[in-house]
Amino acid sequence: TRRVLVSPSLLSSDFGRLAEEVRAVEAAGADWIHVDVMDGRYVPNITLGPVIVQAIKKVATRPLDVHLMIVEPEKYIEAFAKAGADILTVHVEACTHLHRVLQQIRHAGARPAVVLNPATPLSAVEEVLGEVDMVLLMSVNPGFGGQGFIPHTVDKVRRLRAMLDARGLHTHIQVDGGINSETARLVVEAGADVLVAGSYVFGAKDYAAAIHSLRA
Ligand code: DX5
Ligand code: ZN
Repeated sequence: TRRVLVSPSLLSSDFGRLAEEVRAVEAAGADWIHVDVMDGRYVPNITLGPVIVQAIKKVATRPLDVHLMIVEPEKYIEAFAKAGADILTVHVEACTHLHRVLQQIRHAGARPAVVLNPATPLSAVEEVLGEVDMVLLMSVNPGFGGQGFIPHTVDKVRRLRAMLDARGLHTHIQVDGGINSETARLVVEAGADVLVAGSYVFGAKDYAAAIHSLRA
């Protein structure tokens, strides 16, 4: 059985105490740190850019897992890689030339990943499975923390794992949105191995207990 990685989403952290929050989730057992970049155009919310990623990089010891919810991501790949993003995830729906953007990410020195919204079929990434280190399946519509998990995602994870197995690929499958101890178990059983969790981790009194319960 594959090891399950937990990537707490800073979106639900206390941004006034960002450095402390990063240290706290790392001490609590976070494997990666999930950073949500929103531009107010691709999604109806605005968060942060490369300067904040750079600030997080100064305190983080775990890989920065940067989820770009922005239009024209190709314009900002180098800036986020330079700021310290280890994994750069782009939305297939936001890329006119997805293959080119994935290559651009690798050339910039980061690990390329691609993400699909709940309504986007797996066929949208079928031709680039060999180019990515991870496929992220959104289990909510992107833009906000604290939304409910869309149950249909479980079957989508299962079908993606089968597609990867058929090609002999060990690509990570990440799930983002509405993850708690119950939904975590469902998606891990279906073949996911990286869990993003925002409100479930940062809303808990005990970060370590919350992270541990996602792996259990
Ligand atoms: C949503 C973001 C998520 C968000 C998840 O657009 O991509 O990473 O922080 O939050 P929860 O875990 O609260 O659903
Ligand atoms: Zn995210």
